[in-house]
Amino acid sequence: MTTKTITLSARPKGPVTRENFGLEQRADPVLSAGKLITRPLYLSVDPYMRGRMNDAKSYIAPFALGEPIESAGIARVVAVNSGSKFHVGDLVSGMMPWQELALVDEKAVRAASAELPLGAQLGALGMPGLTAYVGLFDIGQAKPGETVFVSAAAGAVGSVVGQLAKIHGCYVVGSAGSDDKVRYLKEELGFDAAFNYKTVDNQRSALREACPKGIDVYFDNVGGATLEAALFVCNVHARIPICGMISGYETASPEPGPSNLAILIQKRIRMEGFLVSDHSARMGKFASDAARWLAEGKLKVQETVVDGFENAPAAFIGLLRGDNVGKMLVRVSES
Ligand SMILES: NC(=O)c1ccc[n+]([C@@H]2O[C@H](COP(=O)([O-])OP(=O)(O)OC[C@H]3O[C@@H](n4cnc5c(N)ncnc54)[C@H](OP(=O)(O)O)[C@@H]3O)[C@@H](O)[C@H]2O)c1
Repeated sequence: MTTKTITLSARPKGPVTRENFGLEQRADPVLSAGKLITRPLYLSVDPYMRGRMNDAKSYIAPFALGEPIESAGIARVVAVNSGSKFHVGDLVSGMMPWQELALVDEKAVRAASAELPLGAQLGALGMPGLTAYVGLFDIGQAKPGETVFVSAAAGAVGSVVGQLAKIHGCYVVGSAGSDDKVRYLKEELGFDAAFNYKTVDNQRSALREACPKGIDVYFDNVGGATLEAALFVCNVHARIPICGMISGYETASPEPGPSNLAILIQKRIRMEGFLVSDHSARMGKFASDAARWLAEGKLKVQETVVDGFENAPAAFIGLLRGDNVGKMLVRVSES
């Protein structure tokens, strides 16, 4: 009669730890109007969730203290109201609380595909894939023959950015936090060059060497020192889609911004932040392009899967630490 629930037990000051999460038994949810009861199969952990752990105003409300963590997920419907557009046994995708049995708003979920791999619908074929597509093509305006540099290149968004840029005929460079990731980018995903930002002496020199013709599009996932280094190597009229700044998400007080922003003027560079949620109208075109590239073997889907509902906090902490290659997922149940 009770269901396991993972809550926010304390707001982190600096890096997230296991102590920031609570694991409790709560009363099973009771069906009410406009709601579904679902069992999660996969839960997504995403960097933006770190911001929701802070008590700060943003584009999305903070998690409430003592209440369940919430993330994107794919779940099986186990109870519905009569007249619902969903049926028991349906697969749904959307935002859901971290509960083994969850009450979700019908309007907060949509049908998930039983044909496509479930994990990929939360990764390369879902929100992170659309982020890469919109950031690279709509905001970054990447053109064939141009040099595209992407940071956090082995992650969910970055790995798709690099592959889409290769499909588009760009010269592609990535940075990542381990030698294994660098090897993966070059050998598995066909990046033209890649470097380990943690071990190079100087990111600016590493970028100059990796990008002999300079950078035309810098897809920024990390901000901080990498953004500063990339600005030095950008060409005139370069574009910088600001997707994320993960290097600052865990710091207790924000680092000063890049010291060289005057380069934006000298080189007439356009730097533009964007949110994927503003671009849901592009999902249809992205989904059809991505399905074609997947079938042609041009788009590879990579995931790091952590098993077990109770390990969701560990998966999230691991994501922020860089444990993942591709999309970090929690597999709650196989069926
Ligand atoms: N604007 C939007 O709408 C939107 C949507 C989705 C995601 N995002 C942003 O896009 C970025 C990537 O998200 P994702 O879901 O694809 O995550 P991800 O890249 O799969 O995972 C995060 C990665 O960030 C790297 N990282 C952690 N700390 C770092 C640091 N101090 N400096 C540099 N890299 C660090 C780690 O890889 P390494 O081993 O390489 O360090 C880690 O694997 C995040 O900044 C996220 O907030 C934005």
